[in-house]
Amino acid sequence: MSRPRIVVLVSGSGSNLQALLDASTGRHPEIELAADIAAVVSNVAGAYGLERAQRAGVATAVLEHGTFSSRESFDTALLSTVSSYSADLVILAGFMRILSPVFVQAFYGKLMNIHPSLLPKYPGLHTHERALQAGDKMHGASVHFVTEELDGGPVIVQASIPIVTNDTADRLAQRVLKLEHQIYPLAAHWFATGRLELAAEGALLDGKALPAGGVNYNEWQVAAGGRR
Ligand code: GRF
Repeated sequence: MSRPRIVVLVSGSGSNLQALLDASTGRHPEIELAADIAAVVSNVAGAYGLERAQRAGVATAVLEHGTFSSRESFDTALLSTVSSYSADLVILAGFMRILSPVFVQAFYGKLMNIHPSLLPKYPGLHTHERALQAGDKMHGASVHFVTEELDGGPVIVQASIPIVTNDTADRLAQRVLKLEHQIYPLAAHWFATGRLELAAEGALLDGKALPAGGVNYNEWQVAAGGRR
């Protein structure tokens, strides 16, 4: 049987894309991803993520949003580009555009995002600064299904780390990014192997509804004992 096909959307550095590429080719130190990265699409011509894709021999496409007359016309073109790669799963990895309902509906249940906060805390931008300012003790990252609510779809998996004395937004961002590189390939693997789905009651893993925060990755790691 052929492996599921993933299309990844990026706007920037693409370190999450790299983790997915590594996991799909047996190069990730911990996570295996039983799917192929079929293509990488960006709205930014010079995005480093495109270079990572090309280096891995993965097809790329660029659709510069500034050249479209409206959000809807951009999203319609994006929809047709992504569809042309026969995507089973679409992954937003640092894709800095809000998608309109036409796109979200077309890939409903097959569209994931990663967000650098413990959702539902801090949807939107500047999450590390906001966690520091609030005096939070814990911070982290969440993978979630995308719905029409910004950063508001059902959470699949969440990983957390403590905020330590004298932490800065940059240091925190770096530590959170490391977690992102673990949980994104893992969520994609669950989806690719048919274990994960979006149902009316929310995200289901192995047919069971996940709690509001999704799988707790810290606990999962201990329970899995190295088994994926
Ligand atoms: C990550 O922090 C991700 O959570 C957010 O954008 C950043 C993308 O980083 N949505 P990269 O491009 O994957 O390095």
